[in-house]
Amino acid sequence: MTKPFIQDLVKDMTLDEKLAQLTQLGPYYWGLDDTVDLTGPFKELNLKPQVMKNIGSVLNGIGARNVIGLQTRHLQTSRQKIPLLFMADVIHGYRTILPIPLAMGCSFDLEACERFAEIAAKESAAAGIHVTFSPMTDLVRDPRWGRVMETSGEDPYLNARVTESMVCGYQGKDLKEKGRIAACVKHFAAYGAPEGGREYNTVDMSSGVLRDFYLPAYKAAVDAGVSMVMVAFNTIDRIPASGNEQLLRGILREEWGFSGVTIADFNSVNELIPHGNAQDGREAAEKSLAAGLDIEMMSTHYLNHGADLVEQGKLDVALIDEAVVRVLELKDALGLFDNPFKDADPLVDEAAEPNTVHLQAARELGAGSVVLLKNDHETLPLKRGMKIGLAGPFATSVHVLGGWAGTEKDPAVSLHTGISNKTSEGDILTAMTNELGSMLEGIFDVEDEVEEAYHRLKDCDVILAAVGENQQDTGEGGSKTSLRLSANQEKLIWRLKDTGKKIVTIVFSGRPLELKPILAASDALLQAWFLGSESGNSLADVLFGDYNPSGRLSMSFPYTVGQIPVYYNAYQTGRPYDPNYPQVRYVTRYLDCPNDPLFCFGYGLSYSHFAYNSFAVEAAEASDQIIASIEVENTSDIAGKETVQLYIHDVSASVVRPVKELKGFRQLSLAAHEKQVVSFEITKDMLMFYGKDDQLVFEPGEFELMIGRNSSDYCSERIWIG
Ligand code: GLC
Repeated sequence: MTKPFIQDLVKDMTLDEKLAQLTQLGPYYWGLDDTVDLTGPFKELNLKPQVMKNIGSVLNGIGARNVIGLQTRHLQTSRQKIPLLFMADVIHGYRTILPIPLAMGCSFDLEACERFAEIAAKESAAAGIHVTFSPMTDLVRDPRWGRVMETSGEDPYLNARVTESMVCGYQGKDLKEKGRIAACVKHFAAYGAPEGGREYNTVDMSSGVLRDFYLPAYKAAVDAGVSMVMVAFNTIDRIPASGNEQLLRGILREEWGFSGVTIADFNSVNELIPHGNAQDGREAAEKSLAAGLDIEMMSTHYLNHGADLVEQGKLDVALIDEAVVRVLELKDALGLFDNPFKDADPLVDEAAEPNTVHLQAARELGAGSVVLLKNDHETLPLKRGMKIGLAGPFATSVHVLGGWAGTEKDPAVSLHTGISNKTSEGDILTAMTNELGSMLEGIFDVEDEVEEAYHRLKDCDVILAAVGENQQDTGEGGSKTSLRLSANQEKLIWRLKDTGKKIVTIVFSGRPLELKPILAASDALLQAWFLGSESGNSLADVLFGDYNPSGRLSMSFPYTVGQIPVYYNAYQTGRPYDPNYPQVRYVTRYLDCPNDPLFCFGYGLSYSHFAYNSFAVEAAEASDQIIASIEVENTSDIAGKETVQLYIHDVSASVVRPVKELKGFRQLSLAAHEKQVVSFEITKDMLMFYGKDDQLVFEPGEFELMIGRNSSDYCSERIWIG
C-alpha cells in the first residue's frame, strides 16, 4: 500500500518532474552550467540545465563528501525536496576489494558470500552509496565473454543460492539500518549468453532453456527481496530487454510479483534504436515505459519525449505514476526523506588506513575461493625454509584486484609479498617478473626472459610460475577468441620444467583459461582468480597449508576454446557418447577432443583425501519422503573442508531434462580421519521443471540420484518417484 505522503507527492508533481525523477545521470552533469556546456554533454543528451534540479538519481557519484555536497545543493533547488538516490557499481567491494564474484562462486560458501556483501555494503554506505548494481547473476557457459568474472558461474542452483546470500548481505532486514544498501540484481535477462561469447552480441534461446537455466537466479533475488532489477542490453526473443513487456511486466511483475524498481543499463533505452527496435528516441521511450522500465540510465528520451507521448495519448500517465511511486518508495525504504545523507561519513570514507577487520575477512574469502586443480607428488603445501623460485608476470604484481574493483585506493598484496610474509625474503628468488600489458594497449605477451629465468631459478627447491591474463582484459568489453596463456608464459612454464624441480603454476584470471597446454609441465596447478586486496596473503595461506584449499569450480574449464560452450548440466541428445566405446562414430562427439571439460563443474582438490562410502537411498513408507545419504571420511592426517554435492537426473519427461542438475550441497569440515554422514531430503519441489507450456510441473518417473565430490565423480542410484 503506497504511503499517503508519497501519493501526495506524485499528485503534486508535474509531468516533467515525474519524468526527471525517472532519469539517472552521472555526477558530472550537476556541476555544469548552461553557458559552457550546451555544446557538450548537455547537447548530446538534449538536456536543459534547469531540469537537473528534478533528476531522480545519480550514477556512480561516490565519496561521502561528494554525495553530501551534491545532495545538499540538490535539496536546495528541488521544489519538493525529493532526495537524490545514489547508485554505483560495487561489484566485489568498495575500499576493501574482495575476490571477484566468480571466485566467490567457487567457495560454495554461502555464509562467506553474505559476509562479502555485508563488508561491501558497510564501506559503500559510508561513502554515500544507497544502491549497488550487484549481485550480477547472469548464468554463463562461455569463458570467451569477459564478464564471467562478475557472476558465480554455470549453475542455476548455485547462482540462486549465492545471489540470495548477497542480497541478504547487502540489504539486511531493514534498508534504513546503518551499513545497509539496496541491491540491484542484473542483467535481466540472460546477458551471459551472447553468441560467440562476444560482448553485447545477440542472445537467442528457447523459452524452455531460458527458464531451465537462466531465470532461476534472478527469481531467487526477487524472492530474497532484492530492491531493484537492472535490464540487460541484449534481446530476448528478438526484443531488447529494455523494451520487452513480456519479460518486464509478464515474467518479472505478474509471474514473480516483483514490486521494486527496474532500471535500464547504461544508455540501453537509447540502444533500442541501433538494435533496430525503435525508429527514434520517442519510440524508444514509448516502448521502454510501456514495457515497465522505470529508470532510464544515461539517456534522456523519457525526459525529452514522455510528455508528448502522454499528450498524444500514446502513453498512459498512470504507467509513469506507477514508476515514480516505486522510485519514491525505494527512497523512503532507505529512509532518505528523513535522512537524505543516510550513512555518508567522510571520516570513515576518507580514513587513511583500510579497515583491518575487513582485510582479514578478504584474506579468508580469498583463500576459500582458490581452487587446487592438480597436486601431483604432494608438491603442495610448501615448507618454510624451502628455496622458492618465483617467476612470471604475476609474481610481484599488485594488479590483481580484478575488474570493477571499487575505489582501487589501496594496492593489493602481491604474491611475492604474501610469500615473504610466510618465509624469509632470502628464500625467494624471482625472475621474469615484468607485468603483462593489456590487449587494449595492443600488448599480447610478456618479454621473453625465459632463458635467464631458467638459469636463475634452476637451483631452487621448488618453482612457482605466476601467470594469467591482465585484469583489464576481463569484465565488460573483455571478450576474447583465444583462452590460452600468452606464448612466452607457456614457454616459461615448460622451460622451468627442464630444471627438474617441482613446478607450481598459479593462474590469475577472471575466467576459465585453456590450461591443457601447460598441465603436464605443472606438478601443481592453482586457480587464483583475482582475489582482491589480500590476494598474496590468501594465496600464501593456501601455498603453505595454513589454509587447506576447499574451492570447487563453479564454471567448467574447457580443453580448448573449440569446445565452448561446455558445461555439466547439458541435455543428453539422442546419440549420447559412451566412453566405453570410443570408436563409435555416429554419436555426439568431436574427432579431436573429448566432450567433457578439462576440469568439470564442482571439481577441486584438497590437501586432505576424502572417501565416499555407504551411499543409500531410502523411501519412507509412510510419507513420500525420500532420503539420499552417504558417509564421507577424511582418510588423511589433515583437517579439511569437503563440499558434498547432490545431483539429480530426471530420466524421462515431457521435455528433455539435463543429464544432471545440482540440487543441493553441504560443506563438511572434517578433522583428520573423521567421518560424517550427509543426508539430503528429496522433495517433489526439487524435481519440478517448466513443461511445454512454460508451466511448472512435477512428472512422476524414474530419477537418478547422485551424491559426490563433483559433477563427474559421484555415487548414483535410480529410483521411481510417483
Ligand atoms: C555498465 C554495465 C552494468 C553497470 C552499468 C552502470 O555498462 O553493463 O553492469 O552496472 O553500466 O555502470
